[in-house]
Amino acid sequence: MPFVVLMGGPGAGKGTQARQLKETLGLPQIATGDLFRENLQNETELGKLAKRYMDAGELVPDEVTVAMVKERLSRPDCANGALLDGFPRTIAQARALDQLLAEMGERISLVPYIHVDPDVLLRRLAGRWTCRANGHVFHLIFNPPKEPGICDYDGSPLYQRADDSEETQKRRIEVYFEQTAPLLDYYRDRGLLVEIDGEQDIEQVHRDLVAAIQKAS
Ligand code: AP5
Ligand code: MG
Repeated sequence: MPFVVLMGGPGAGKGTQARQLKETLGLPQIATGDLFRENLQNETELGKLAKRYMDAGELVPDEVTVAMVKERLSRPDCANGALLDGFPRTIAQARALDQLLAEMGERISLVPYIHVDPDVLLRRLAGRWTCRANGHVFHLIFNPPKEPGICDYDGSPLYQRADDSEETQKRRIEVYFEQTAPLLDYYRDRGLLVEIDGEQDIEQVHRDLVAAIQKAS
């Protein structure tokens, strides 16, 4: 069954697409950013540690992140595959993921790279509103909620992520190019990378992703 790694810069649409793919393909979404934000909200030690890095737009240390993913992958809902959103983000994390999956007798099926230009990434992040209860994402212009400030799916209030401030957005995009973009070659060399045009509308990106994943599994 498929283990799919969604790659793309901050604001490329990984979360938006993972949520839809979860419904279409019946696979769980493992979003490391969402897991850190849950820990933050629950005021756990992990949340407190992660906050320092997230607020600065830097990556949380590999050891901590890998341990969190290891625990998540060990749960029964991941036995038949998963959608990884925001992980791996460094070469060390990619190697750790290969090893974790090998221990489960599994391997990555596909790495769709949702390609979006940096200036569009900035516009996406600047207008993003996220739902407090379940992390559904909206955009002021590109994907507005039916009622301003309220999530269409669960009625919870929408908020702007702390790391969507102008300064942190820029740093996150830099960190992406410095530390995460090298993973594109890592997966390209293994024949796993498929490029998806992330500047199409949300539904078309979804259709392209479904077609690519079905072809690979
Ligand atoms: P994380 O939460 O993963 O943030 P990110 O990678 O920066 O990605 P985003 O969530 O910002 O973007 P997205 O691609 O999900 O886009 P979205 O769908 O929301 O990580 C946050 C922080 O946590 C990191 O900085 C780091 O500190 C830490 N962290 C997380 N994982 C880590 C790891 N593995 N290692 C170490 N540290 C880690 O869409 C964006 C906006 O665009 C939305 O408003 C949406 O409505 C809109 N949109 C989406 N698609 C389209 C479209 N096709 N057309 C128009 N608008 C669109
Ligand atoms: Mg996201």
